[in-house]
Amino acid sequence: MATRRILGIETSCDETSAAVLRFEDEQAALQSLVILSQDIHRVFGGVVPELASREHLRTIGPVVERALAEAGVGHSQLDGIAVTAGPGLIGSLLVGLMYAKGLAYGLGKPLIGVHHLEGHLFAPVLEDPTLRPPFVALLVSGGHTLLLDVEEWGRYHLLGETQDDAAGEAFDKVGTLLGLEYPGGARVEQLARTGTPGRFDFPRPMIRDGYVFSFSGLKTAVLRAVRASANLEADRADLARDFQDAIIDVLVTKTTRAVRERGRTTAMIGGGVACNQALAAALAHALQGEARVVVATPRLNTDNAAMIAAAGGWRLGRGEHSGFRLEPFDAAPLPGLVGALAVSG
Ligand code: KG4
Ligand code: ZN
Repeated sequence: MATRRILGIETSCDETSAAVLRFEDEQAALQSLVILSQDIHRVFGGVVPELASREHLRTIGPVVERALAEAGVGHSQLDGIAVTAGPGLIGSLLVGLMYAKGLAYGLGKPLIGVHHLEGHLFAPVLEDPTLRPPFVALLVSGGHTLLLDVEEWGRYHLLGETQDDAAGEAFDKVGTLLGLEYPGGARVEQLARTGTPGRFDFPRPMIRDGYVFSFSGLKTAVLRAVRASANLEADRADLARDFQDAIIDVLVTKTTRAVRERGRTTAMIGGGVACNQALAAALAHALQGEARVVVATPRLNTDNAAMIAAAGGWRLGRGEHSGFRLEPFDAAPLPGLVGALAVSG
C-alpha cells in the first residue's frame, strides 16, 4: 500500500484538536498535532456544554488549518478524514463532525467516524510502533473506566467497567474537595507527591470483585475526612496521597489480575488518567518480570486528534468508511466489543 495522509478531528469535550498522520503501509507517523484547550470552564468548576460547543465553532477552522500548515499538507493531498463521532457532548461533537463532513464532501475524500475510546487505545502506537495486540488495556478518563482484553485491533473483550464514577471523575471530585482548580486530576497527583501516606484509611472498593469498578464510596470517604479535618490546609497533601494510593491500588490490582488470567505479556494504560506517573509506576512494579507496561506521553493521552487519526486511519485502511449520514452519539459501546458484561455505568 502507498502513502496515505489522514486528517484527524476531535471535539468531543473541551479540547479542539486536529492532527495529520502519514501512513506508510500500516506504520503511522505523526506530522502535526494542534490541541486548543478551552479555559472558560475553569470559572464554572466543570465543562459547560453550551459554552464548549460555541468555543469549538470559533476555533475549529483555524485549528484544522494550522494542523495542515504545520504538516505542510494541502487539502488535496489528504486521503481521508477521521473524526470523533462519540461518546461525548452532542453539541461539541456536532461541530467537529459537520466540519469533517463538509471537508470530506468538498474534497471527495472518505470520512470515518471514530469511537473516542478506540482513539485512546491507539494513542501509544504513535510512539511505539511495536505495540500490537494482544494486550490488556486499562482505559481511564474523565468519563470512562474500562478494562479490556485487546485480542486484535477491532476486537475488544470487555472485562469490566465502572458502576458509578469514572476514575478521572473521582480525581476531579477529590480535587474540588481539596480546593484545587478543575479539572483536578493532575493537581491531585502533584499534591500527593508531598503527602505522607497512611494517615487516612480509605476503602479500596470492590478490589476483590473481579473486574468491576466503583469509586463513589471512595470519594465519599474523602469527603468525610475533609469534613472531619481540623486543619484542612495541613492535611490536604496527606489526603491527596491516601486517596491516590487507594485508587491506584484498585486499578493496579484489577489490571494485574487481567494480565495473569488472560495470559498477556503487555499491558497499556490509556486516557487522561494515564498521565498519572504514580499509576504507571505502580503497574510496572506489580507486573515486573511478567509484562511490559506501555503508556503514551501526556499529550497523546489527554484528548487529542492524533489518536483519532490513528484509529480512523486503521479503519479506513481496511476499507471502512462512514458516509454522510453519520450522527454524533453520547454513549455507545466500542465497535468490535465482545463479551460485554451486564454492567451499567
Ligand atoms: O481522556 P481525557 O483527556 O478526557 C476524557 O475523555 O474524559 O481525560 C481527562 C481526565 C480528567 O478527569 C483529568 O483530571 C484526568 O484525566 N487526569 C489525571 C491526570 N491528568 C489528567 N488524573 C490523574 N492524574 C493525572 N496526572
Ligand atoms: Zn478522552
